[in-house]
Amino acid sequence: MKEAIKNAAKVIIESRATIALTGAGISVESGIPDFRSKDGLWSKFDPEEYATIYAFRENPEKVWRMLKEMEEIVGKAKPNNAHIGLAELERMGLLGSVITQNVDNLHQEAGSKDVIEYHGNSKTLTCLWCKKTYDYEEKKGQYPPKCECGRILKPDVVFFGEAIPPLAMERGYQLAGSCRALLIIGTSAVVSPFNMLPRMAKQAGARIIELNLEETILTHDITDIFIKGSASTSMSEIISHVEGLKADNINR
Ligand code: APR
Repeated sequence: MKEAIKNAAKVIIESRATIALTGAGISVESGIPDFRSKDGLWSKFDPEEYATIYAFRENPEKVWRMLKEMEEIVGKAKPNNAHIGLAELERMGLLGSVITQNVDNLHQEAGSKDVIEYHGNSKTLTCLWCKKTYDYEEKKGQYPPKCECGRILKPDVVFFGEAIPPLAMERGYQLAGSCRALLIIGTSAVVSPFNMLPRMAKQAGARIIELNLEETILTHDITDIFIKGSASTSMSEIISHVEGLKADNINR
């Protein structure tokens, strides 16, 4: 695996146009379960019953039982070395944007400035009826949170059956189609349209680096450099190699 880390660091240094795609796996070491691993969220809550917009309209109180559990976990979570490593690469001018499926705000808390949230963010809530929006803090501790019109509020995360925010979609396609290297971290890549981005980048000639605990449907299809292991350990090793290469370049 050491060779793969070195190769990834070299690609990132040479690329000058690297972006990152992240999924729930990058936040597991911050204490937030992912969805499809053995003890993931969907092993506890059937997404058909808890994660579609139809389920929310049908029975918002029931969906808020899952959301409450997730909010309590996310509320305690802090960025780990994988989030911090991506923010570090951005600070060094070696990473442009992070396109994430996560709604936990940990990339922003780690210091990443350009974060594109494909599946929205849990920091605000909207009333589906009167369209009024609230900050999460205004309704913290209220379950289910209610709008002043009396209806139950929905967090501004994208449920199955809802559209991806158009600006996020547009920027995602533009960045995937023009990057020279792609860092894919902690995603099973089974959910569209997010999972179209890796292939778009590959078709545009980008080098694909994948960090995951296990192989995914991308690994033997489009991935050039696969780094098996936890996101925080792998990112920390990549960062130290990148810093070493940068130091070598300066001393030349
Ligand atoms: N380090 C690296 N990878 C990890 C780690 C870790 N510590 N822990 C888990 N993983 C990997 C798993 O092996 C898996 O491939 O992260 C991936 C998580 O996959 P999913 O649980 O499917 O999460 P994600 O890909 O983000 O799901 C996409 O599906 O349910 C919807 O809206 C939800 O945004 C989510 C979307």
